[in-house]
Amino acid sequence: MTHLAMRGGAPVRTKPFPKWPVYDERDKQALIRELENQEWGIGSPSIDAFERKFAQFCGANHAVACTNGTDAIYIAMQALGVGAGDEVIIPPYTFIATAIGVLTAGAIPVFADIDPLTYNIDPESIREKITPRTKAIIPVHIAGNPADMDGIMQIAREHNLHVMEDAAQAHGAEWRGRRVGAIGRCGTFSFQTSKNLSSGEGGAIVTDDEECSERLRTFTNCGRVKGGLWYEHHELGGNHRLGGFQAALLCVGLERIEEQMKKREENARRLTGLLNEIPGVSLTGSYENATRHAYHLGVLRYNPEAFQGLPKKRFVEALQKEGVDCADGYLPLYRYHFFRHFQEKMSAYHELYAGKADYDSVQCPVCERVCENESVWIFQNMLLGEKSDMDDVAEAIRKIQNYADEAF
Ligand SMILES: Cc1ncc(COP(=O)(O)O)c(C=O)c1O
Repeated sequence: MTHLAMRGGAPVRTKPFPKWPVYDERDKQALIRELENQEWGIGSPSIDAFERKFAQFCGANHAVACTNGTDAIYIAMQALGVGAGDEVIIPPYTFIATAIGVLTAGAIPVFADIDPLTYNIDPESIREKITPRTKAIIPVHIAGNPADMDGIMQIAREHNLHVMEDAAQAHGAEWRGRRVGAIGRCGTFSFQTSKNLSSGEGGAIVTDDEECSERLRTFTNCGRVKGGLWYEHHELGGNHRLGGFQAALLCVGLERIEEQMKKREENARRLTGLLNEIPGVSLTGSYENATRHAYHLGVLRYNPEAFQGLPKKRFVEALQKEGVDCADGYLPLYRYHFFRHFQEKMSAYHELYAGKADYDSVQCPVCERVCENESVWIFQNMLLGEKSDMDDVAEAIRKIQNYADEAF
C-alpha cells in the first residue's frame, strides 16, 4: 500500500489556500471614484495620496510612485548617478529584476554570496567583492526578511558607496524598529500581483533625502524637473509613471496591510512551532536586529538527510501533490541563460562589458547549496489562512518524511 499522494494516496488537503490579491467594496468604490474623476494619470489625486501614505507607511520622508519594481531599480540607479562601467554588488539569491535594473543603467552587477541563516547578502562576502569601480550595494530583503543593514551600512560608510535597498518583497519589514526602504540612500518596492501590497503592476522608491527624491522623480517623469515647464527635459528619463487606478487600489491596500502583516506573523509563528517538531525542516532564521519580517514568502530550509536523502525537487513535488502550494524557488542568478550567454547577449555594449563581466566563473557556494538542496517556498497568501492551514502544511511535511522512500 502506498501513502503519498504522488503515488495515489489521499492528499493531506484538497482545500485551496486563500486567494490573492484580495479586494472588497472599498476597492470597487475607489476604482469608480477614479473613473469618475477623469484624471487617470498624472494629476490624479490618488497618486499624490498614495505617495504620501506610502512614505508614511515606510517611515520615509518621500515616496515616488512608478510603473514597477524593475523600473524602480533602474530609476534609482540613474538618480544615484550609477552608470556606465560602475559595479554594483548584489546577491545572487533574488529575482532577475535586481540585476536588470543595474544593467539597464549601464552598470555591472557583481555577485556577493548569501548567508546561510537568512539567505540575504552576506556583508563579509560584500567586502571581498569591492573594487575601485564599486559604486553601490543593493541588499535585497529576500522573502521580506531584512538583510543585515548594520553590516551593510558600515561597509558603505567605509568605502563611500551608495546603499539602495531592493525591498520589492519587504513592505513593512523592520530593522531595529525602522521600516526598510529608506535606511540606505533609497529603496525600491514592487506592487506586482503576488506582492504583499498589490495593484497588479506598480512600484515605488522611497528616500529620506529631498534632493534624491527630486532626481527620482525626474528620472520617473521624462527628465522633467521641479518647477520646470511640461516640455522641458533635463535628463535621460523615460516615462515610468504609475497610473491613477493603480494608485487608487494601493491606497485601499494600505488600509488592510497592517492586519494582514499581523496574520502572516501569527501563522509563521505557528508554523515555526510545528516545524520544530519535525527534524530537518525549519523556516529560515532572522538577524537579531530584524524586528519585523514581512513574510512575502515562508522560506523552508529543507535538509534531504532527514528525509532519507530525498532530493529537494522530489520533496517539492511530493508536497505539491499533498495539496500544499510550494516552489523550489530561484537558481543562483548567474546560472540563468542570460548570464551564461552574457557577452553574446550584450555584444552591442562590448566596450562597456568586455572582460569586466565573466559570469561563468562566478561561484557563490552558499547560494548554490541553498538553491540546489535547501530552499523551498510557500507563499504569503498561505500565511493569511487559518491555523488549520498551517497544521496541514506541517502534517504534509511529516507525512513525506515518514514515507520518503515512496517519493524517489
Ligand atoms: C526582489 C525583487 N526585486 C525586484 C522585483 C521586480 O518587481 P516588478 O515585478 O514589479 O518589476 C521583484 C518582483 O517581481 C522582486 O522579487
